[in-house]
Amino acid sequence: MESFSFQQLRAYRTAAILLSLVLAVDAVARASYGAESSPHRHRQSESVAGRRWGGAFMEYAHGHVDARMDQQTKDERIVGGAKTNRTAFPYIVLLSILKDNDEFFCGGTLIDRQYVVTAAHCVLNSSVLVVPARSITVYAGSTLQKQGTKVGVNRVWSHPSFNFYANDVALLQLRSALRITPTVMPIKLAYDDTPLKDGSDLSISGWGSLSAGAGSVAANLQGATVNYLPNGCGRYKKPDYSEYVPSVMICAGCNAGRVDTCQGDSGGPLTTLSVSNGCPILAGLTSFGEGCADAGFPGVYTRLSSQVSWLEKQAGRVFRSQYAMAPPSTCDTCAGATKGKCGLAPGFNANACQIEGYLASAFVVRLKTCSKSATGASLPIEALFNPVSFGTFKPTGSVFFLRSQSEGSSTVNLGGVNVIVPLSGPVDFRNGTFYRSYWRTLWLPDADVPTRTCSNYYTYAAAYISSDKKFIQVSNTMRTTRSV
Ligand SMILES: *[C@@H]1O[C@H](CO)[C@@H](O)[C@H](O)[C@H]1NC(C)=O
Ligand SMILES: *[C@@H]1O[C@H](CO)[C@@H](O)[C@H](O)[C@H]1NC(C)=O
Ligand SMILES: *[C@@H]1O[C@H](CO)[C@@H](O)[C@H](O)[C@H]1NC(C)=O
Repeated sequence: MESFSFQQLRAYRTAAILLSLVLAVDAVARASYGAESSPHRHRQSESVAGRRWGGAFMEYAHGHVDARMDQQTKDERIVGGAKTNRTAFPYIVLLSILKDNDEFFCGGTLIDRQYVVTAAHCVLNSSVLVVPARSITVYAGSTLQKQGTKVGVNRVWSHPSFNFYANDVALLQLRSALRITPTVMPIKLAYDDTPLKDGSDLSISGWGSLSAGAGSVAANLQGATVNYLPNGCGRYKKPDYSEYVPSVMICAGCNAGRVDTCQGDSGGPLTTLSVSNGCPILAGLTSFGEGCADAGFPGVYTRLSSQVSWLEKQAGRVFRSQYAMAPPSTCDTCAGATKGKCGLAPGFNANACQIEGYLASAFVVRLKTCSKSATGASLPIEALFNPVSFGTFKPTGSVFFLRSQSEGSSTVNLGGVNVIVPLSGPVDFRNGTFYRSYWRTLWLPDADVPTRTCSNYYTYAAAYISSDKKFIQVSNTMRTTRSV
């Protein structure tokens, strides 16, 4: 295997772009760029990344990619899928990204009304720098390219350890929160994907590649459902799969080929059902593959369960799903788009999904001003929903207030419901008291806190559980900045 220095790789890459602008989307969609993090820019290690990168560009230089492009007609987007509608895939968004004066397309997934997750290689330009936020436009809610609700981007985070292709993940903060509608719904990330077994069904969607240069993209959103193939990418038949790392990647496709993601689907969602049957759960992001839909060469997806903590940390929000995955196994479309028992993707309860999205964005928790008394200090904490209702859903139920000494993750049984909370170590909790429109409790200083003040000794959070116990929403963590 030849190896290349970073500088050489940059040269190869630049050459590829200059040589064939028509191939630009192909280059961007599946080849990846070096990694730079924002706002701190670190040059990546050159070893593995360099080989992969060099390999990709040797392909360009020798024309193999041209051959692949020739095969790629306009009908090949999500290969083997079919035109779909927004109610089946309300969480996908289209990203238009200006890089080096060309327009590129990627998929993305709404994981909150104001955040989109996509692939790192989508947001890096030919100088392997993160593109400015203003170069990215997000389109939501339409099956058509560059239609629907259009929104700009405030901030871009690209994973600092992205390295051809491990950690191929980036986060975008939108300029404004999108309204949840039947065609625009955020979904949550898989926190635990161990329910995925060989053959579990995972749905893919996207607009696919440009085949003739920037601007001529697939007209309609395509969808399909493939299988989790934990042993399908580890055979290292070709150099591309030598970069497959199961702990951070998911291998999915059809054993016989025919259905797959392809160039231009990068960054888009790989989803499965949840035990809530509300929103699907986001398990992965389209990352790379050898060819498209060839038997024995499935797609490789960023494994999001390995990225949840990084994503939550960047945004200061909780993105993990509270619900376990419930992947079906009889819904794949490997035998053809019209032969899937579940349509192009298994159905879910869209109304419940809208409520889940609403709860995530409307649950507000705040630490109030600390007050001191002879017995010590007390710290009130409040939680409410803003606005108070969503459609016919009224958020009645209980709020539990929690505290511990550190952030992290643990499962706590709150009134009979297991809730994944963003705290670690021993977690104290108590049921809040409901006043007309908010829940409240008062934390008193603990014997462990000798100063009897409101210090930042504890990390606080809150969890809402609906009366019927079907809906759970956890807040992000907070600490008091006050010390009295
Ligand atoms: C949209 O897709 C879903 C799921 O495949 C299907 O049940 C529904 O009938 C479709 N709606 C329209 C208007 O085509
Ligand atoms: C890549 O992006 C960086 C930072 O946004 C920018 O300064 C640079 O000019 C871009 N490179 C090219 C080749 O346009
Ligand atoms: C929490 O408190 C409310 C009253 O404030 C009560 O109705 C509810 O049952 C309590 N929940 C649990 C799980 O204890």
